[in-house]
Amino acid sequence: MGQMLAVAVLAAGKGTRMRSAHPKVLQPLAGATLVDWVLQSCEPLNPQRWLVVVGHQAERVQQHMQRDGQRLEFVLQQPQQGTGHSVQQLLQPLADFTGTLLVLNGDVPLLRSTTLHRLVQHHRQSGSAVTVLTACLEDPKGYGRVFCDDRQRVTAVVEDRDCTDEQRRNKRINGGVYCFHWPSLSAVLPRLKADNQQGELYLTDAVGLLDPATQLTVEDATEISGVNDRGQLAACEQVLQQRLRQQWLAAGVSFLDPASCSLSPGTRFGRDVVVAPQTHFRGANSVGDGCRIGPGALIEDSQLEADVEVTFSVVRQARLARGCTVGPFAHLRPGTVLEEHCKVGNFVEVKNSQLGADVKAGHLSYLGDARLGRGVNVGAGTITANFDGIGKHPTTVGEGSSIGANAVLVAPVTLGRDVTVAAGSTITSDVTDDALAIARCRQVEKKAWHEPAASHRSGSTSETAADQPS
Ligand code: UD1
Ligand code: CA
Repeated sequence: MGQMLAVAVLAAGKGTRMRSAHPKVLQPLAGATLVDWVLQSCEPLNPQRWLVVVGHQAERVQQHMQRDGQRLEFVLQQPQQGTGHSVQQLLQPLADFTGTLLVLNGDVPLLRSTTLHRLVQHHRQSGSAVTVLTACLEDPKGYGRVFCDDRQRVTAVVEDRDCTDEQRRNKRINGGVYCFHWPSLSAVLPRLKADNQQGELYLTDAVGLLDPATQLTVEDATEISGVNDRGQLAACEQVLQQRLRQQWLAAGVSFLDPASCSLSPGTRFGRDVVVAPQTHFRGANSVGDGCRIGPGALIEDSQLEADVEVTFSVVRQARLARGCTVGPFAHLRPGTVLEEHCKVGNFVEVKNSQLGADVKAGHLSYLGDARLGRGVNVGAGTITANFDGIGKHPTTVGEGSSIGANAVLVAPVTLGRDVTVAAGSTITSDVTDDALAIARCRQVEKKAWHEPAASHRSGSTSETAADQPS
């Protein structure tokens, strides 16, 4: 058995520089949150223990992070007196721990698992008390500077605000990710002092107290980007989106204008999918082989089987079977199920409804809480009136039926198979199989009808009177 590994994520800070009512680590980032990305980068390391230090809005952070199957141990830091104070809170829960502790700031979302793996390996092979992940940045502003001696041992980490002008010229920065030999760290943690510009206990001071202290330089310096403000959050969003697109381009998805599209980590694609410009995927989606999505689509928490086409439309919590066409300008809301080869077209909204195979709803309709059998044709402007002011009611239409244009189906109502509804009907009663239902006024025709003469018009209630210029 290898050495024990524990991961600790520091997520207690307020994130003042975000100027937000929400805790920094919960800021949305590339389809997840800032801290989700940090946790995800550690997952392949299979640590024996996961610890998360929470403090500012601790309950919210804890609630968000708690998930099935992952044993996160939450440790409270109250009040928040710096990163060193944050790690001091681990002294008790890790009292019996003797292995390696990987510490990550909760605001470094771009780390690759391979880099963390290298850090742990390097740390163990070198037998160091601490190994700091560093990078050399052209613009190191805001980061702690890492100082080494001629033998490449780390002698000190000095915060940007505590640096002398001379020290500030050092471009080697602290990435906020460290591997510690926990027994050595726990011995020096109680000795931290708050003698710095912020009056806080710095974890970086513990590095200076440990021997030997080494560093590992990341190859790709963007990986250690920390998020302190909205500008850095936006920059990380771009990097993560770019990575997701590259991953799927390599896996056989075409993007016609990659930079204009966004993905979520929970979206999976089959082969030969074409994603046109301005198309966005959120949450957990599966997109089958040969689908053509966009231009201009939003797909959220939905399953699309093979060869589905979606153009300028919004699809949320919906399931679309093979060969369906959606849009332009359709809105599929939660609970929509389209069976094979359905067509949902211009300005059609569907909610909590199941449309059987080959159903066509081409134009200007609302279908809510409805169940349509195979091959139903929904005429332009058909509306299911599913709400009576108190509750929602179901509409059922049997297979092969045809609803004329501008019909209103007042729920609850059931139409049988092969029913025909005349255009303009307001259907309030059930209709039996094979029947034609007409529910509208008969057209009246008045033969040889002329407008009333002008002399008779004053005080007239004729419909045409209002149209005359006064
Ligand atoms: C820190 C490092 C700096 C490094 C940079 C890398 C220190 C003193 N400085 O600075 O050397 O270059 O990260 O990104 O460590 N936190 C707590 N409790 C607290 C304070 C902070 O849990 O009392 C957590 C925060 O939630 C955050 C992380 O620690 O996730 C880092 O805190 P932050 O204030 O962002 O540190 P930096 O100033 O960026
Ligand atoms: Ca930071």
